[in-house]
Amino acid sequence: MASEPPPRPRVVLGVGGGIAAYKVCEVLRRLTESGHDVRVVPTASALRFVGAATWEALSGHSVSTEVWDSVHEVPHVRLGQSADLVLVAPATADLIARAAHGLADDLLTSTLLTARCPVVFCPAMHTEMWEHPATRENVATLRRRGAIVLDPAVGRLTGADSGAGRLPEPVEIFEFAAAVLRRGGPLPEDLAGLRVVVSAGGTREPLDPVRYLGNRSSGLQGYALASAAVARGAEVTVVAANVTLPDPAGAKVIRVGTALELRDAMRAAAAEAQVVVANAAVADFRPAHYAESKIKKSDDRSAPVIDLVQNPHVLRELGRERLAEGQTVVGFAAETGDELHSFLELGRRKVAAYGVDLLVANEVGADKVFGQPVTQGVIIGADGVETPVPPGSKRALADAVWDRVVELRRMS
Ligand code: CTP
Repeated sequence: MASEPPPRPRVVLGVGGGIAAYKVCEVLRRLTESGHDVRVVPTASALRFVGAATWEALSGHSVSTEVWDSVHEVPHVRLGQSADLVLVAPATADLIARAAHGLADDLLTSTLLTARCPVVFCPAMHTEMWEHPATRENVATLRRRGAIVLDPAVGRLTGADSGAGRLPEPVEIFEFAAAVLRRGGPLPEDLAGLRVVVSAGGTREPLDPVRYLGNRSSGLQGYALASAAVARGAEVTVVAANVTLPDPAGAKVIRVGTALELRDAMRAAAAEAQVVVANAAVADFRPAHYAESKIKKSDDRSAPVIDLVQNPHVLRELGRERLAEGQTVVGFAAETGDELHSFLELGRRKVAAYGVDLLVANEVGADKVFGQPVTQGVIIGADGVETPVPPGSKRALADAVWDRVVELRRMS
């Protein structure tokens, strides 16, 4: 007999009346496409930004702001009781205030009172509103009662102004929600009190003012590691090499271009960090000479010869030197394997060669891993423990890495 498919996780997506409501359409899309059953509960003012038709088309369910629609179904009780997760985005100052005071004057706030599942608020508002003592106290109240309130990102706000209060990127909200659902509750704050530095992206080694030697790393994995660490309570610094993605909310981002710049930034941050994760694709070589003006074609059709010099191996330095006591060092190895060795064997060798505690060996190819949302690999420990990570999101791999880091630090 064919077995029943597992029930789809039920998510109530509460949408507040803020301009960032338009970004939440993408959160909804990602949730439904990954198999979640999503009921959207907008506030009346949310519908002034994004209309009911959009929410209904994207979720496949009708939407209502009021407890007076379909009263026979008692929606204000049923929705909250049957949800596996309530996700509120954008959580405006007003909505946070109403939730903190236990008001139940529309369908969303009533749902918040009846929900017994994890509740995640994703605030978005102007910096002044976010920093106002009233909002600070309301956020503290919600957190004290067990709700998860994300810190907003820092960046461009509605107009030309920028500051703290920006809604985290849809992918970050989606990945966070998926992680809470995977765990069935709030994420463990098991990295609290730790300073963590993560390198992300790929270095570029300039040849002349318009050209460089570079690689295809997008920074997605490094940023997923940073977001996951923030969510688990760490103080996170990201050394970002040529990453064009929006900054991960809650992390400090230091931008670098070349391998030598990355090395300086990593060494400075690592001196203060308990955990170092080297995820950036660092160019092994750089042009020996930088041409101050653009290199031109020659009339005789001969190609220029470019001399290269080797860059320092930043991870090997960090692994061997250990710039702070008791530091955990994690590397990544993008391997294709060769005729003689599997990608895993090559990864094992690097654990010893680089002196790291953990090395994540990714099998890469033209269409694997680089710039792709899905990844897989094996986390190889210097202690001989190998943890395969099945194909999944870069955030899931990031959480698997942090799980191992926490385990290693507990044992030491
Ligand atoms: N790395 C580094 N400095 C370099 C090159 C790489 O710190 N100059 C780090 C990367 O951040 C990554 C790890 O080393 O964590 C592994 O990188 P990999 O892609 O395996 O490159 P290589 O070490 O150069 O290995 P191979 O010689 O096999 O290409």
